[in-house]
Amino acid sequence: MWSRRQYLTLALGAAASGCASPAGVGAPSLDSLARAKGMRFGAAVGRRDLDDARYCDVVRRECGVVVAENDHKWPVIHPAPGVYDFAPGDRLVAFAERTGIRTRGHNLLWQHPRWLAPWVTAYDFGANPRASAEALLREHIATICQHYGTRISSWDVINESIDEQTGVLRETVLTRAMGPEVLDFCFHVAREAAPHAQLVYNDYMGWEAGSANHRAGVLRLLHDFKTRGAPVDALGLQSHIGANRGTPQGSFNPPQEREWRAFLDEVTGMGFDLLITEFDVNDRTITGDIPQRDRAVADYARRYLDITLSYTRVKEVLTWGVVNPKSWLQRFTPREDGLPLRPLPFDENYEPTPLHAAIAEAFEGAPVR
Ligand code: XIL
Repeated sequence: MWSRRQYLTLALGAAASGCASPAGVGAPSLDSLARAKGMRFGAAVGRRDLDDARYCDVVRRECGVVVAENDHKWPVIHPAPGVYDFAPGDRLVAFAERTGIRTRGHNLLWQHPRWLAPWVTAYDFGANPRASAEALLREHIATICQHYGTRISSWDVINESIDEQTGVLRETVLTRAMGPEVLDFCFHVAREAAPHAQLVYNDYMGWEAGSANHRAGVLRLLHDFKTRGAPVDALGLQSHIGANRGTPQGSFNPPQEREWRAFLDEVTGMGFDLLITEFDVNDRTITGDIPQRDRAVADYARRYLDITLSYTRVKEVLTWGVVNPKSWLQRFTPREDGLPLRPLPFDENYEPTPLHAAIAEAFEGAPVR
């Protein structure tokens, strides 16, 4: 915990620079706590969030890195063959640069049939499907990486390519055209086009028993990347934790912890860095009043973060959004009682929630890296 003196020192510093943290006068920002341990803290920012001055203030105060919630994804940035729309994504990168913080790129290919751009799903790969899929992917990845150059320091090259039930590669029009080499191909093109950037495989495997096949599939994939020499630097742990995959809240028990550690041990043992890329806590099934729900969310998060951040290979933690009412989960997994979810560290008044304190405490308790 921070001593009173440390808080006071920071409070004076913050007051002098005119940027007290919203967590209370003098409370250190999440990014400053992360940096004290050799990490960074950040958040996903949606297009409309940049028009929200209070939202931007929170990001400026708390974050050392941002990622576009949607604006670097294929359907937005490359909405038709040969057509690129960089304007929305550029706006976030410009905001980050003005703020003096980094931007991560998410993502070059979401290898999932639901999330490909419709025109890609309908694409005619012709008589030589492999060659035309390679040409399409090369153009897409090289154009975007070259557009941003060093302004984007880390890319999720591939997102969610392993089926959570079976643990095997998802089938898409691209794997049908090229086979499983799609993934290595994308990483090689990204390395060529953005040699400075950290290249990440990002997925949502968790520690629950029901995620065993997903974890095993991701481990096989990472192992294959190593064996074949694909230029993959890190695994992104999306970390949408909580009730979204049928796990009752608070069931983070010793067997699950063992499974999760075994997974992280294998990943780090293979030499990959780790990032928590999309953290939020789904409280869809948590009952009780708001303080009780917030407490349960914070406790669950703390447990996850304490274990995961004990791995010094974790270098960044990003939440998927900032304020509860704007979380994607409100639309994707609404509560049965119709009440809004509370998955993020700031509430509807842009005030920090107990989850904010839990993240801060997890950073304070984490080893230096
Ligand atoms: C979500 C966005 O938050 C939504 O606005 C969008 O409609 C769908 O995608 N895993 C990911 C993210 O990798 O890109 C997803 O973002 C959330 C789950």
